[in-house]
Amino acid sequence: MTDQSTTFETRLRIAAARVEDALSTVLDEKALEGEIARPEHLLAAMRHGVLNGGKRLRPFLLMESAALFGADEAAAIRVGAALECLHCYSLVHDDLPAMDNDDLRRGKPTVHIAFDEATAILAGDGLLTLAFDIVAAPETDLTDKAKTQLVLELARAAGIGGMAGGQALDLAAEKSAPDETGIVTLQAMKTGALLRYACEAGAILADAPLPERQRMRSFGELIGRAFQLADDLLDLTADAATMGKATGKDAARGKGTLLALKGQQWAESELSRLVAEATDILRPFGDRASTLIAAAHFVANRKN
Ligand code: IPE
Ligand code: IPE
Ligand code: MG
Ligand code: MG
Ligand code: MG
Repeated sequence: MTDQSTTFETRLRIAAARVEDALSTVLDEKALEGEIARPEHLLAAMRHGVLNGGKRLRPFLLMESAALFGADEAAAIRVGAALECLHCYSLVHDDLPAMDNDDLRRGKPTVHIAFDEATAILAGDGLLTLAFDIVAAPETDLTDKAKTQLVLELARAAGIGGMAGGQALDLAAEKSAPDETGIVTLQAMKTGALLRYACEAGAILADAPLPERQRMRSFGELIGRAFQLADDLLDLTADAATMGKATGKDAARGKGTLLALKGQQWAESELSRLVAEATDILRPFGDRASTLIAAAHFVANRKN
């Protein structure tokens, strides 16, 4: 293991632990001011969907992007926790019988298996809403302008023009196969948008100039493409024990993936190309971006 990767793994572990703490705090049983009560069963389902050993990659990217621009770390952890809640909601709903119908997530029963379908739908609703609560809450020490921008971009990344829209296209693709452009759009939406947000939000937190924000956005888009391509490759090549989720399902369900369209060899070289392009984009930041560049390699070469 090189020094570079040791630093990367350590930073990822520390960031994940900090985010885990923040997530546990926002998912406390005590109702917040303005809330009436927190039903125990629903809270348990939300905690099951969140505090269950995810890689916490999105908060990590957000915190590293924030650090690149000198933003406040505590605020970055809060916004990172918000993004993770939203990501976990997307997974809880993605696993529902009406969508991918999966029983296993992060090595544990999915929320609708451990609880029931109605509770899983509501746990997702609760997590999506909580994400916006966390950004807007007074405990998140940012200017109102930064919060408004963070909320707006998060809504755009998560909604019809982002993740939720991409999930709709993903389901439609099972019935009628899209072409290459269609798959790139579908994946940029269902997975890319939240990863792009993770990278751009760091620049927003620090009120960085627009060109820098755009640079982080482009970096995030490339990471997003690499991330879903790696996920599709792992669905083909890895086992459920390593992944903590069922594998070998995309081909069986006829998912619209670039891997299915262009093959494994192409996918592997495309991954290297995307990482090289992402690295190029961050070159102007010099050594300060070394952890984010390591993150690009991690996304492409991850084993789970
Ligand atoms: C899985 O995301 C869902 C996709 C977008 C492909 P991750 O691989 O980041 O899942 P966790 O959060 O580590 O479980
Ligand atoms: C999921 O894509 C993307 C979202 C949850 C938005 P997949 O369906 O490929 O993710 P996994 O493989 O179930 O984690
Ligand atoms: Mg899916
Ligand atoms: Mg799925
Ligand atoms: Mg997948």
